[in-house]
Amino acid sequence: MNIKNVVVIGSGTMGSGIAAQLCNANIPVTLLDLKTEISEKAKKKIFESRPPLLIDKSKIDNIRVGNIEDNFDLVGKADWIVEAVVERIDIKHKLYEKISKARKLDSIISSNTSTIPLKVLSEKMPEKDKKDFCITHFFNPVRYMGLLEIVSEEANDIKKIDFLKIFCEENLGKGVIICKDTPGFLGNRVGVYAMQVAMTEAIKMDLSIEEADAIFGRPMGIPKTGIFGLYDLIGIDLMADVLKSFIKELPVSDAFHEVAKEMPLVKNLIEAGYTGRKGKGGFYRMNKQGGNFFLEAMNLKTGKYSVSKKIDLNIEDKISLKDLVSRDDKYGKYAWSVVSKIILYASSLIPNVTKDYNNIDEAMRLGFNWTRGPFEMLEELGIKFFVEKDSHLKMNEFVKKIYDKKTDSFYGKRQVYTNLETLGKIKQLAKVQKDNKSAFTYEHKDSKIVEFNTKANTLDYDSMDALKKASDKNLIIINEGMQFSAGVNLNYVMNFAKEKNWKAIEKFIYHFQMTCKTLKYSDNLVISAPSGLALGGGFEVLVQSDYVVAHSNIVTGLVETLVGLIPAGGGTTNMLYRWMQTQEAKKDSDFAPQKVFDIIGYGKTVSSPIEAIPFKFLLEKDKSVMNRNKLLSVSQDLINEKKEGYKPPKKPTFKLSGGKVRDKMFQTLENLFKDKKILEHGMQVGKKLAFVLSGGNTTIDKELSEDDMYALELEAFVQLIQMEKTQARIKHTLSTGRPLIN
Ligand code: NAI
Repeated sequence: MNIKNVVVIGSGTMGSGIAAQLCNANIPVTLLDLKTEISEKAKKKIFESRPPLLIDKSKIDNIRVGNIEDNFDLVGKADWIVEAVVERIDIKHKLYEKISKARKLDSIISSNTSTIPLKVLSEKMPEKDKKDFCITHFFNPVRYMGLLEIVSEEANDIKKIDFLKIFCEENLGKGVIICKDTPGFLGNRVGVYAMQVAMTEAIKMDLSIEEADAIFGRPMGIPKTGIFGLYDLIGIDLMADVLKSFIKELPVSDAFHEVAKEMPLVKNLIEAGYTGRKGKGGFYRMNKQGGNFFLEAMNLKTGKYSVSKKIDLNIEDKISLKDLVSRDDKYGKYAWSVVSKIILYASSLIPNVTKDYNNIDEAMRLGFNWTRGPFEMLEELGIKFFVEKDSHLKMNEFVKKIYDKKTDSFYGKRQVYTNLETLGKIKQLAKVQKDNKSAFTYEHKDSKIVEFNTKANTLDYDSMDALKKASDKNLIIINEGMQFSAGVNLNYVMNFAKEKNWKAIEKFIYHFQMTCKTLKYSDNLVISAPSGLALGGGFEVLVQSDYVVAHSNIVTGLVETLVGLIPAGGGTTNMLYRWMQTQEAKKDSDFAPQKVFDIIGYGKTVSSPIEAIPFKFLLEKDKSVMNRNKLLSVSQDLINEKKEGYKPPKKPTFKLSGGKVRDKMFQTLENLFKDKKILEHGMQVGKKLAFVLSGGNTTIDKELSEDDMYALELEAFVQLIQMEKTQARIKHTLSTGRPLIN
């Protein structure tokens, strides 16, 4: 069996997402809808989507479009038919009847339903179709969400289901968890319950929506949209439908009912047209006054909106779950109430919904971007602490069983859903050094693995120290958390800037440079295997590794100029050297500096390895991997392939024309300034960048060493950080998570 041709029926949010991901995997796909205009519009939307659903926009014509009347014959040629039409059983049943007549006998049919049981979907099917029919429940947005739940039943041809699982792992890059036919499967059953608990407890405990989102967010290892932000993102009306279906499907004894009742507050919002971000807002909304946009939040009691407040939880960087739920304030009480209920609910599902509790944790990671699931939370808190903290806690069988064992550690293997040798599995087995708070180092086979461990994996002195120490062996730098690295830790830099301790900043950046040099020239291979963001300093680690094994969803580039700085950890120099190797640069010595001036000056970023190549953020020798779970094994294979006879690269030299090319760059800046595209401060930053890229006070006949270039980067960085405008930009970015525009 093979899947070489797919038809997706229904070109809405999910059908388009699935088609785009098939296109990303180079698999020809046809999107059918009621009318061709609908699927054509969907194709256009895929092309323009932000964040992009396509890895490589030039492949868009891998997606063909049509309608279910004139083009249904294509179903007969498809190896896999995915149904992603509206959540209406009558419509779905009708469609299956039509598919049954048209499909090839060896094809697979699946539905993307999120709420209709498999047995109901397939109840009218003849046995010959039932055996080839399952649910493939993708998450939105399909390219970015790692989870795919495949729901199968006894009547299925198990070989086909296994084949589909491997296909979706290998080609579509999904973490595929096989689920039983129970309401909401795993991800939504626990995820939606968690959302409902977080919402009802916030209301009960009188927290504002900003307070609830501040707790049920990063401090708990949950995305910062929190609960009310997530409701707005998903769609408040859609959530109401999902709840209705849970109420219908779950037995009355299920604890879900306690938190699924319709809330007047939510009903009012929907009736007033406040359905979330897709509409005019929801719990949050954007407002405009005097040409300025600002965020407002709703008061849960009055329903009125006022300017959204930033909540200071008084947490330094990170807090352990135990410390969070032990806090003696309303935030601690809320956290405990929510966490304990989620743990109890999730554990009540074992073994009937799944016998592998680990699958629930992984579903929460892959489908909801939690950093750990409920069972990992329980393991972290310790079963004794969990049971004894609250005398009213009602233990269920699962909790009682492990409590009675009187052991604090019950957690077995991780990621049992896949046969791949994942980072998550290796981390459990490898010898680990955790003495450095900013990065952990693991020993694996004859290599070392470094995983950064700060908020968004931002880099400080200790992160770099860990890399330096680990370069005594072949090294893989990889992350299980969302981001490889969002760049240098600007809080860390700003703490020195506040004290005007420029020497400390200089020392840190110098150490950063020296670490990257150590990586580059060590006798061992260094492989960076990024997923998520690899920006600024994070990119500088990549560019100075021997190879990059990149996840297909990376976002990378040099963004320093957006905060009024320039890349000074070797990023400017290395990009320049890469562009100096081009044919154009051989003919014109000013070509490379000008090209890199544009790339860095505009803070260019790309959102896939394929997009990275034309900018030379990545090179042809680097690898791109669809499945995050494979990053480690592909890196390990690369080490095995390249380690024999490995020699570090030769040190580059630079011949640059100094003032000659600088004048051209200055002219560009003058034009941008005249056109009001940049302001005075942008001009100053641009001039510093130009100074470095032109080689400083040099002429074309002089040869500059890499160290000369690093010294120019460092000098420019230290000068720029002293500017008030740069510091103001950094502060803005730190408080809003976004750089200032202009
Ligand atoms: P949607 O409303 O965005 O798109 C549905 C599409 O189906 C529309 O383009 C509509 O014209 C088309 N359609 C309706 N009847 C049709 C027919 N007989 N033949 C061909 N096309 C037809 O819906 P969405 O959100 O994409 O959902 C699709 C399925 O995926 C549903 O079963 C839903 O429960 C499920 N799902 C949705 C998720 C989400 O976040 N939106 C997440 C996971 C699953």
